[in-house]
Amino acid sequence: PQVTGRARDVENVDGAGPSGIMDGMTSEVRTIEWTGDGLRLLDQTLLPERVEYVDVDDVDTLVDAIRRLVVRGAPALGVAGAFGVAIAVRQAVREGWDAARRDAAIARVRAARPTAVNLAAGVDRALPFAADGTDAVVSEAQAILDEDVRGNRAIGALGADWILARTGDRPLRVITHCNAGALATAGWGTALGVVRDLHERGRVELVYADETRPLLQGARLTAWELDRDGIPCVVQADAAAPSTILRGLVDVAVIGADRVAANGDTANKIGSVGVALACAAAGIPFVVAAPWSTVDLSVPDGRGVPIEERPAEEVLTWGGARTAPGGVGAFNPAFDVTPARLVTALVTETGVLEVSAGATPSVVSSGV
Ligand code: MRU
Repeated sequence: PQVTGRARDVENVDGAGPSGIMDGMTSEVRTIEWTGDGLRLLDQTLLPERVEYVDVDDVDTLVDAIRRLVVRGAPALGVAGAFGVAIAVRQAVREGWDAARRDAAIARVRAARPTAVNLAAGVDRALPFAADGTDAVVSEAQAILDEDVRGNRAIGALGADWILARTGDRPLRVITHCNAGALATAGWGTALGVVRDLHERGRVELVYADETRPLLQGARLTAWELDRDGIPCVVQADAAAPSTILRGLVDVAVIGADRVAANGDTANKIGSVGVALACAAAGIPFVVAAPWSTVDLSVPDGRGVPIEERPAEEVLTWGGARTAPGGVGAFNPAFDVTPARLVTALVTETGVLEVSAGATPSVVSSGV
């Protein structure tokens, strides 16, 4: 099924539209918000060409939007999951569902994508409020959204402090993979939150944005964010990343995460592990920036992280035309797991863990 929600606020990306999205910095972009009647999602499948929103007020539309990456990125998925409970509660009242049908609908939201633990965690946090009605659920979901923005600011500052303490005074050349920015969160971003903080301190020389095959979150979304905020960046093919690092052109890698296991193994967009291996070989830090809600202490190590496999067409076609010979299949894992030994630091809103030096996420769990 396709997204059937109402599209609105279509804008040329060079123009200022009624939402005001084009007027400010990308850090002010609202990727997800509750309108009072439902959820409004910035349709990330259309960026950078078009800024268009989808209004969601039923579960089928939300599940489809999550699967198609209209809304994406672990923290944004957590917020979407929590508001998804509110959507299900409203729909149950509107359509006369019994509790079993409502709970089945919520379970579909929870399982719409498997890797980012935030989606299920967002649903689980909002679910206890379902018995109290929509307003109670919305209030909890809004709290998750607000906490995410605050947490991202803290991640940005802590990550920038940690990086600058290790890299000295020179302007930094940063590599990032996929999009862990304002678009992937409720605002500001995790990995790009760190980059934004470094930029505010005048310490970013250049960001290498890996294009992130096959859905191009780096080329379409990260480059869009950085360009709008005046942060120097170039897009490179994913395959260029290890070479760029080994040539000495990068000082630090900063990426986001979809799930961090108890031992520090980190699931993130496919291709992250190649960046990590190259960083280890070049002796530069590989930094993971993620909210504590992305840490899953119930999973001992990366082997327990479910890796989403996406449709073959994403790999076998380009611009709608087939690129591989007919009859050939595809292997399309959306995520990989970087072993903890390759993760120099994990930056959360509560502090920085030096993972490859032996610190594990469970060390700070009591402080959260
Ligand atoms: O498939 P996506 O676009 O949802 O993948 C997103 C990523 O891999 C991000 O790096 C991760 O979710 C962290 S977002 C702050």
